[in-house]
Amino acid sequence: MAPERAHQFGSGEPVILTDERGHQFLVHLTDHGKFQFDRGTLPHSALIGDRDGSIHQTDKGAKLVAFRPRLVDYVLKMRRGPQIVYPKDAAAIVSHADICPGSVVLEAGTGSGALTMSLIRAVGPSGKVVSVERREDHARHGRRTIERALGAIPDNVELLIGDVEEVIETVQPDRLVLDLAEPWHAAKVAARHLRVGGVLCAYVPTVPQIQQLYEAFEQTGAFFGAETFEVLERSWNIKGRSVRPDHSMVGHTGFITVARRIAASAN
Ligand SMILES: C[S@@+](CC[C@H](N)C(=O)[O-])C[C@H]1O[C@@H](n2cnc3c(N)ncnc32)[C@H](O)[C@@H]1O
Repeated sequence: MAPERAHQFGSGEPVILTDERGHQFLVHLTDHGKFQFDRGTLPHSALIGDRDGSIHQTDKGAKLVAFRPRLVDYVLKMRRGPQIVYPKDAAAIVSHADICPGSVVLEAGTGSGALTMSLIRAVGPSGKVVSVERREDHARHGRRTIERALGAIPDNVELLIGDVEEVIETVQPDRLVLDLAEPWHAAKVAARHLRVGGVLCAYVPTVPQIQQLYEAFEQTGAFFGAETFEVLERSWNIKGRSVRPDHSMVGHTGFITVARRIAASAN
């Protein structure tokens, strides 16, 4: 997860181990820890100090390839609390909401912290993510996920406990990213406090939620150019002469809606 070019694994870092069957395991290294599975045991000390991409053997002779996890590996393997935004959707949110270095992003709710980590990366050190979560247990879970993935809470993120509608006025964000059940309430407040020209992005799983959100856009008259889409990702099986799409895929996750805040009408 460390973006730097430090090649060697250190204690405290997450590592992704892949066996010969392609099974993957997310392990957080500790000085005296042991990784155990049906094909043997590997002490963490064998990994600490070794290189990203190194190959190891368990006491039963099974091979394991060790990598520093990509964000996508981490998010799909990490311990989940609230339902996460899948990496395919997180990537689309970052691009369609135009979240870039220097952006000030307000996110709600933090949930498991999966989307927060993509936002943190996208805004870079010159930007800021304020992520707000109204449930204390979810806020604790999200904080812990980010700490375990990144080693510490980075300087460019602030994790708050509270309601997005109450903090938006103070933050005055460039981008508002909502992954919560009733985004239309926040959209009404954003009609006053999202920066003019800024982007509201909402992620919801069902059609009635989209309809209510569009009603809020219409009532406030503060948003323009709303568009809604979903992202389908189909992986392929490539083995010798068998080259075909996989039999199963994640069918539905959520719909992404983006809209821009406009200034009050000229007349
Ligand atoms: C689906 S989860 C978010 C998951 C997160 N995006 C992730 O990728 O891990 C939705 C979260 O929004 C929180 N929430 C709902 N309404 C909220 C509000 N008005 N303000 C802040 N958080 C809210 C819920 O408590 C829940 O934890």
